[in-house]
Amino acid sequence: VEPDEAWVEEVRKLARERDAVLLAHNYQAPAIQDIADHTGDSLALSRIAAASDASTIVFCGVHFMAETAKILSPDKTVLIPDARAGCSLADSITGAQLREWKAQHPGAVVVAYVNTTAEVKAETDICCTSSNAVDVVTSIPADREVLFGPDQFLGAHVKRKTGRENMHIWAGECHVHAGINGPELAQRAAEHPDADLFIHPECGCATSALYLAGEGAVPADKVKILSTGDMVQEARATKAKSVLVATEVGMLHQLRKAAPGIDFRAVNDRASCAYMKMITPAALLRALRDGADEVRVDPETAARARASVQRMIEIGQ
Ligand code: 13P
Ligand code: SF4
Repeated sequence: VEPDEAWVEEVRKLARERDAVLLAHNYQAPAIQDIADHTGDSLALSRIAAASDASTIVFCGVHFMAETAKILSPDKTVLIPDARAGCSLADSITGAQLREWKAQHPGAVVVAYVNTTAEVKAETDICCTSSNAVDVVTSIPADREVLFGPDQFLGAHVKRKTGRENMHIWAGECHVHAGINGPELAQRAAEHPDADLFIHPECGCATSALYLAGEGAVPADKVKILSTGDMVQEARATKAKSVLVATEVGMLHQLRKAAPGIDFRAVNDRASCAYMKMITPAALLRALRDGADEVRVDPETAARARASVQRMIEIGQ
């Protein structure tokens, strides 16, 4: 299936017939981003899903995102064009592992990144995304221990920003972002000395970027650690003529649309998430035609997960 005009018309017609709103994450293929009613980061999309009055949400993203929409809107039908679209980061902690960790730290507040399964969210006090993780941890009284997971690089970033000592970090990672490494970033930065660096905090290179700035190799004001949604805002605001982007390569499409005059380059152009790219034009068409794959979350798990997700969408508004 080619994403041509006939496809666009068919998708629009079927979405109208189903009373469906189409949401796409910033890492989706360009055709999927362009046809969606809303494209954004995981926090923005969660908020839109919660506020939407459409009876069906079609989530073009990965499974935990669609699950989060279902947790917030249990009465809506939530579809994902391919339920196999998982996430290596969400897979890095299970409900049982989190229960065991909590047992080792009684009384600690659990902050889990939104990239987690519903079962993990049900064991969590507050969920966060990369755009509000610092605000979420800051909102916790200083004398309470914090368990933060599952992303170790986002955890390290939050710890540095908040200066918090009583914060324990789970050793999970996203295979796409962990693969964007410091030496590659340093080499690109040396080739483009005037470029801004937009870096997602899940990257293995985030620490090195701060190190480079600390050493004076890159001016500190050029190093910007941002969620995908904040990258789009910063693209509109920056005076830079070129920007090196350290995140999944799908991001470049929204950035170029937001600031056509800027030369955006990937730090690692092999950083593509195969899970995100499972949402093809054919899969989207099938989802709308057949009402599949439907996302279901056990109602009891969803009820336990809801409070933590609700806190996430309220903090940092
Ligand atoms: P954000 O869109 O919240 O920055 O998340 C990035 C990500 O890796 C989602 O899978
Ligand atoms: Fe998960 Fe990484 Fe893919 Fe995002 S880019 S969906 S964190 S595997």
